[in-house]
Amino acid sequence: MNSNRRQFLIGGGITALASQLSIGAMAATKTGLKEVYKDRFLVGAAINAAIARNDHPDLTEIIKRDFSSITPENALKWESVRNEDGSWKWEDADAFVEFGQKHKIHSVGHCLAWHSQIPDSVFKNDKGEYISAAALSKKMEEHITTIVGRYKGKLAAWDAVNEAVGDDNQMRKSHYYNILGEEFIDKAFHLAHETDPNAHLMYNDYNNEKENKREATVELVKRLQKRGVPIHGLGIQAHIAVGGPSIEEIEKSIIAFHNLGLRVHFTELDIDVLPLVWDLPVAEISTRFDYKPERDPFKTGLSKEMNDQLSKRYEDLFKLFIKHKDKIDRVTVWGLTDDTSWLNGFPIKGRTSYPLLFNRDHQPKDAYYKILKL
Ligand code: GLA
Repeated sequence: MNSNRRQFLIGGGITALASQLSIGAMAATKTGLKEVYKDRFLVGAAINAAIARNDHPDLTEIIKRDFSSITPENALKWESVRNEDGSWKWEDADAFVEFGQKHKIHSVGHCLAWHSQIPDSVFKNDKGEYISAAALSKKMEEHITTIVGRYKGKLAAWDAVNEAVGDDNQMRKSHYYNILGEEFIDKAFHLAHETDPNAHLMYNDYNNEKENKREATVELVKRLQKRGVPIHGLGIQAHIAVGGPSIEEIEKSIIAFHNLGLRVHFTELDIDVLPLVWDLPVAEISTRFDYKPERDPFKTGLSKEMNDQLSKRYEDLFKLFIKHKDKIDRVTVWGLTDDTSWLNGFPIKGRTSYPLLFNRDHQPKDAYYKILKL
């Protein structure tokens, strides 16, 4: 792809021209990321329900060309697979698993125990009081054995527990924790392991590339290992920004988690280019801030300066990942195209964000070509 065309693709407000030119860009890209990285680590993407249903054949082609792993953005979370009354709804989850089977792509289950996207009614009785430890254990057993059992042999890995360490770097005071204590983590891993002994089981969290959370995570994993919990991998979500955290900090986490004997996974990579409303982005999805125009500077297009910074950031990160390819199993981006990224709505609703490798016209961005060349 020549540099003129690149400028057109990133220029603001010239979408028609951009999409004409980008047809040529797609045709020029025959070798995908999957091929380039095949001897390094898996390259994954989170896919939404529409992609799994094959509603966008062009995106299906991108997945087939570029990605060797998929994670469902929502389809396997509690609120997606359970109705209010606790009965199961399998449509989106089945579509995701079938997509992976059909295209023979390594598929990751996400996630078995998480405080979010699960109704309070799971943890409370009609009077609003917490249910007992025994009752919650029973619910976890039914949930985890059913879902892991249904897809046994089809999902190679599971995020068994998501985000159990809080923003204060103490154990998060979630309903799970308040009822069962740290035991809820042991339970999730044991149940998943007993149900599908071949599944690779991970603990997954955000901000664990930063010092304090990294240390809290290392301590947590040591306790789990001491208790004989079958944990195999550590997920670094990596919802990060163009400006930080630094490559050095991220490297420290790769090494620290590897030193625990775990495989390292980058599970939800995206890079925020928008003004930060806190010193560094966190991914606690209940947090929201007010919309202000100055917080949404790229509404009509990303500036060349910012696009260059974004591409450089992707390049620097992938250089780091390649340096540690012996420790890293997988690098997954959290979404395919900028228009459907959750960062258009988080932590401020209605902004125009550019965190991914493909643009709003479903075309590869500069960042894509940068990491394709490494
Ligand atoms: C967390 C979760 C993901 C997703 C992202 C934001 O990181 O693990 O499932 O919800 O937040 O979309």
